[in-house]
Amino acid sequence: MSVQIKTLEQYQEAFRKSIENPEAFWAEIADTFTWYQKWHTVVNNDMITPDVRWFDGAKVNITQNCLDRHIPERGNQTALIWEPNEPDAPTQKYTYSELLAEVCKCANALKSLGVQKGDRVCFYMPMVPEVAIGILACARIGAIHSVVFAGFSANALAERIKDAQAKVVLCTDYNRRGPKTIPVKEVVDEAIEMGCDSVSHVLTYRSTGGDVLWDERRDIWWHKLVDVQSTVCAPEIMDAEDPLFVLYTSGSTGKPKGVVHTTAGYMVFTCYTFMNTFQYQDGDIYWCTADVGWVTGHSYILYGPLLAGATTLMFEGVPGYPDTGRFWQVIDKYKVNQFYTAPTAIRALMAAGWDEPDKYDLSSIKVLGSVGEPINEEAWRWYDEKIGRGNSPVIDTWWQTETGGIMISSLPGITDTKPCFAAYPHPGIQPVILDQNGQIITENNVEGLLCIQYPWPGMLRTTYGDHERCRTTYFAPYPGYYFTGDAAKRDEDGRYRIIGRVDDVINVSGHRIGTAEVEDAINQHPEIVESAVIGFPHDIKGQGIYAFVKATHDVTQPEQLRKEILEMVTKYIGPIAKPDIIQFVIQLPKTRSGKIMRRILRKIAENQYDQIGDISTLINPESVEEIKSGAQHPF
Ligand code: PRX
Repeated sequence: MSVQIKTLEQYQEAFRKSIENPEAFWAEIADTFTWYQKWHTVVNNDMITPDVRWFDGAKVNITQNCLDRHIPERGNQTALIWEPNEPDAPTQKYTYSELLAEVCKCANALKSLGVQKGDRVCFYMPMVPEVAIGILACARIGAIHSVVFAGFSANALAERIKDAQAKVVLCTDYNRRGPKTIPVKEVVDEAIEMGCDSVSHVLTYRSTGGDVLWDERRDIWWHKLVDVQSTVCAPEIMDAEDPLFVLYTSGSTGKPKGVVHTTAGYMVFTCYTFMNTFQYQDGDIYWCTADVGWVTGHSYILYGPLLAGATTLMFEGVPGYPDTGRFWQVIDKYKVNQFYTAPTAIRALMAAGWDEPDKYDLSSIKVLGSVGEPINEEAWRWYDEKIGRGNSPVIDTWWQTETGGIMISSLPGITDTKPCFAAYPHPGIQPVILDQNGQIITENNVEGLLCIQYPWPGMLRTTYGDHERCRTTYFAPYPGYYFTGDAAKRDEDGRYRIIGRVDDVINVSGHRIGTAEVEDAINQHPEIVESAVIGFPHDIKGQGIYAFVKATHDVTQPEQLRKEILEMVTKYIGPIAKPDIIQFVIQLPKTRSGKIMRRILRKIAENQYDQIGDISTLINPESVEEIKSGAQHPF
C-alpha cells in the first residue's frame, strides 16, 4: 500500500504533514480502505478529549477490510499460521479465503445464539485459531468482543463478564501450555456461578478432548454448532464510532477498567502502524508472540496484520517448552521475517542459554520488535547480536491498551535506533513531556511526564460503562493532554526513552498489574489487616511484586500464612499477580492523616535505603527501621 513509509525523507514529510494538516494526513491513509460510505468529518475536535470522534459519518466493517477485501488478490495466500504447543503436532494454516469462511460460520453460529450488534461476547480462550476466528466473527456481526486473558482466575473473569454484561462466553475445554494441561471450561463454569446472570450460552471449542461438566441449557460445543453453519455471512454495516471491543486493564486505583476501542479509527491506526513498524513486504512471515488476551495480541497478531494482508503466525505454547530453543526453532521452521516479543522473554531466554540461538538458522529475520516494558541494554544487545546477527534493527515499541496501537518506535531501516530508546513518534502522534506542574517542556535532554497533545485515531473512546472515569483518569490530570501514566526522557536528538509508570501500576513480565488490586486480594485473608504492594527491579521480570503485610497477630508461622496469601492472590486475580516477596510487618509507615507512605516502602523494596529521605512527617517513624531490618532482597 502506498502509505507505507520507505525512506527517512518520507517519514519526515509524513510527520510534518500530520502536524500541519492532520485531517488531510489521516484521510489519505483512510482512503486506502474499503468503506460503505465515507466520513463527513475526519476528526471532530482539535482538543484531546474522550469525546473525540474519528471518520464520523463513515460506514464500514473491519472484517470486510481484514478478509473480503483481500480475496481477489490474495485469497489463496496464508493469512494465519498456527504453531501448536507440541513441536511435532500438525501445524494449521488458513488462507484468506478459508479464514473468511470460518469467520462467517462462527458469525452465523453467534447469530443463532441470539447475539446481535452491540451485544458483548466474552472470550476466555487460549491461543488456538478459534479464538481469532471468534473475535473476527464478533466484529463481522457488530458484537463487541471482550477478551479476558486465560490466566486470570474465575473471580477476575466473573468481574469482567459482569461489568460488560456479556451474553455469550467462548472458551475451550482445556489449555495446553508447555508440559501442563490447564482446565479452562471449569474456570468459566465457576465464574458463571458467581452471579453472571447476563450469560445465556457458553460455546466451547474442544481443544484437548478432556472431560468437562456440561449444562444442557447453557453449554454448546463449537463442533456441533459452528461446523454446520453457512460459510457466508454478510458483514454488518457499522458506524465509524461503533464500539469494536472492550479490553480490561489495570489502573492505579479500583477495579480494572474496560478500555473501549471503536471501529474505524482503530482499523486505520493499527494497519498503518503495523505496516510501518514492521516494514512488512508481500510474502513475509510475521510473528508476534503475545497472547491474544492482551492488546498486543488484538492489534498485532490479528487486526493490524490482517488489515495489511500479511501472513501472521500464532503460537499456542510457551518459550521454554520443550526447551528454551523453541522460539528460535519456530523462526527457523517458518523462516519468520518479523519477530515481535517482550523483553521479559528475551531476558529469560538469554539467561537460559546465551548461545542457544546459534543452533538455528535465523537468517530470515529482518526486523526485531520489543514491547510491553523497558528493554535494558544487555537484553537489547543480545537480541540484536544473537537473533538479529547485527543486521536486523531492534525496534522498541511504546504504546498502551488505551492507545490502540504503536505510538513511539524507530522505523526499521528508516530512522535510527538507539539501545533502550523507543525513539521517534509515528507520524500523526504528538508526544510531549510535562513537568510536575503540568507545564510543557520544549527543550531536549529532559525528563518528565509523557503526554499526548493531539488526538489520534486509535485512542480509547471511553471506559466501559463509566465515561467519567475515562475523563478523570486520562484527560483531567493535565488538561489539554492525554496522560499516559508513564515518565519518559527525551535525548538531545528528540528520541524518547520510556522510564516507567509514575502511578501505582507495576509492570511484571510486561503484564500490567494494579497494586490496589493485589492489596485488595491480600486483604481478603481474615488474618490480614492491611498491606502495601510495591514494584521492585527484577532481573527477568523487569519488575517483581513486593508485599508489605500487617497481620492481626504475631506471625509465628510465616510460611503457612505466605502460602495462604499467594492462594488468595491466585484466587482473586490469577498467578501472574503473585507477590515475589511477602514481608510481615508490625506496622506500615503512615502519615498523620493515616495514609501509607508508599514512597518509603518503594525505596526499601528497591534496596535504596540511602534515598528514604525525610521520615519526620510519619506518625510512626520507628516503623521504618523495623521494616528495613526485616526486608528481603533475594533477586
Ligand atoms: O508503562 C508502559 C509499558 O506498558 C504500559 C502499557 O501496558 P499495556 O496497556 O498492558 O500495554 C502493553 C503493550 C502495549 C505502558 O504504560 N510499556 C509498554 N511498552 C513499553 C513500555 N514501557 C517501556 N517501553 C516500552 N516499549
